[in-house]
Amino acid sequence: MEIIRSESLSKVYRTGENKVYALNNVSLSIEQGSFTAITGPSGSGKSTLLHLLSGLDHPTDGKVIYQDADLYKYKDNQLAVLRRRRFGFVFQSYNLVRELTGWENILLPVMLDNRKADEEHLNRIIDLLGIRDRLSHLPGAMSGGQQQRISIARALANKPAILFADEPTGNLDGKSGREVLTLLRQVNRELGITLVLVTHDLNVAEQADRIIQLEDGKIARDSGVMQA
Ligand SMILES: Nc1ncnc2c1ncn2[C@@H]1O[C@H](COP(=O)(O)OP(=O)(O)OP(=O)(O)O)[C@@H](O)[C@H]1O
Ligand SMILES: [Mg+2]
Repeated sequence: MEIIRSESLSKVYRTGENKVYALNNVSLSIEQGSFTAITGPSGSGKSTLLHLLSGLDHPTDGKVIYQDADLYKYKDNQLAVLRRRRFGFVFQSYNLVRELTGWENILLPVMLDNRKADEEHLNRIIDLLGIRDRLSHLPGAMSGGQQQRISIARALANKPAILFADEPTGNLDGKSGREVLTLLRQVNRELGITLVLVTHDLNVAEQADRIIQLEDGKIARDSGVMQA
C-alpha cells in the first residue's frame, strides 16, 4: 500500500539568467512501512526531494500526495500541524536546542502540539534508542551519536507515519554511524514507521528495501522494492 507519492515534482532556482533544476519532474510512490534510500552525487537533488516530500519546502511544479491530499494545497498552518503530527525529520547536524536537556528536546514537538505526552510510547523509544542516561544532559555534554539518538527520539515523539532522515550518519564516525543506522532500521521494522533516508554512503543505502538514485535532479536508477 502506498503511503506518499510525488507527481512530476520540480524545483527550479533562478539565479539571474540561469535556471537550476534542483529537481526535475520526479514521480515516485513510497510503500507504507518500507525503508527507501535516496542516493546520488552532491547537488543531485537529494535534500530537495526530501524537503519537498516532507512539506519543508514548496515545489515549483508538481504535487506531493499524502493520504489522498496534495500537501501543497494545505494552508501553511494546516501543513505545519500535519508535518508535526505525521512526519518526523532527522538532520545531519542533529539541530537540538542547546539550552534544553535531552528530555526537553524530545518533548518539544509534543509540547508545541499542546498534547499530553504518551509516556508508554516515549519510554519505548527511549529504551530502544538507549538514551535513558542522557535525558538530563545538555546536548553539549553528549557525543555526536548520542545527540543524533536524542534527535531521532524527538522525531518519533509524536508517533509519525514517516521518518525522513537527511544524511543522519554524515557527521558520525564509522562505529556510531553504524549504530545509528541499526537503530533507524529497528524503528522502521519494530515500530512500522516508513523510513526515507538520504545518504551518499552505499554501505548505508544497501541496508534499505529500495534504492533510488538521483542524477541532475532526475531519477537515474530505481531498484524498486526488493524482496527480503
Ligand atoms: N537555495 C538555493 N538556491 C539556488 N540553488 C540551490 C538552492 N538550494 C539548492 N540549490 C541547487 O539545487 C541542486 C540540488 O541541491 P540539493 O541540496 O538538493 O543536493 P544534494 O543532492 O542534497 O547535495 P548534497 O549531497 O551536497 O547534500 C544543487 O545544484 C544546488 O546547488
Ligand atoms: Mg543534501
